[in-house]
Amino acid sequence: MTRPPTFPARLATARLVLRRYRQDDAAQLLQMVEEERRRLAEVLVDPVFKLQGVDNAAGLVAFLAKEWQGGRRFIISLWDRSGSLAGECYVGGVVDGEIEVGIFLRQRYERCGLAEEALNACIQAVHARWPHARLNYRCDTDNVRSCALALRCGFQRQSTTAGGRRRRDGSMADVVLYSLAPPAAE
Ligand SMILES: CC(C)(COP(=O)(O)OP(=O)(O)OC[C@H]1O[C@@H](n2cnc3c(N)ncnc32)[C@H](O)[C@@H]1OP(=O)(O)O)[C@@H](O)C(=O)NCCC(=O)NCCS
Repeated sequence: MTRPPTFPARLATARLVLRRYRQDDAAQLLQMVEEERRRLAEVLVDPVFKLQGVDNAAGLVAFLAKEWQGGRRFIISLWDRSGSLAGECYVGGVVDGEIEVGIFLRQRYERCGLAEEALNACIQAVHARWPHARLNYRCDTDNVRSCALALRCGFQRQSTTAGGRRRRDGSMADVVLYSLAPPAAE
C-alpha cells in the first residue's frame, strides 16, 4: 500500500529552518506563547492561546506530533540561524482537494521578509507533494500585513465573508479568502 504524502520534516531557506516541533522544544514554544499571547490572541487556536506551564506545552507538542503523523495538520516551527523560535507556519490536511495555510511571526521577526520566505517554502513543498491541491489563506480583512503577504506569495483574492469570524470579545470580524491554484492546473 502506498503511503499518503506528508509534509517534509525539515526545510531550510536562506535565513530559516522550518521543521516539526520536537519534544525538547516545549520550553521555547511556551516562552513564545507567553510573549505573544496578547498580540496573537485572534490568531492562536484555543489550546495554544491558553497554554500554561511546560508540561502543558510538552503535551501540545505530543498532540501536534500525532496530528502530523495522521496527516491532519502540519504545524511547522520556524527557527532563525541562531536557534531561536521565530514563529510558525500552518499547513492543513487535504480536504476536498484544498489545503489551508497560515503563518505568524514573533513581533521582533516582522518586517524583514521572513514571512514571505517561510510561506513560499511551504507553498513549494505543498506543490511538490500535493500538485493537485488548491491552497487557501484566510485572514481578517483589516489585517493589512497578512493581506499584503498573501498577495506577495501569489495568492489571489477570492471572496469576503462579512462577520465570518467571532473575535475573543464576541464581536464579528470580516474574513477574506485568498487562493492559489495548483501547479497541475496551469
Ligand atoms: C502576517 C505576518 C506573518 C506578516 O509579516 P511581515 O513581517 O509583514 O511579512 P514579511 O516577513 O514578508 O516582511 C515584509 C516586510 O519586510 C520588508 N523587508 C525587509 N527586508 C526584507 C528582505 N530582505 N526581503 C523581503 N522583505 C524585506 C518588506 O519591505 C516588507 O515591509 P513592509 O511591510 O513595510 O512593506 C505578521 O504580520 C504576523 O505574524 N502577524 C500576526 C499573525 C497574523 O495575522 N497571521 C496571519 C493570519 S494567517
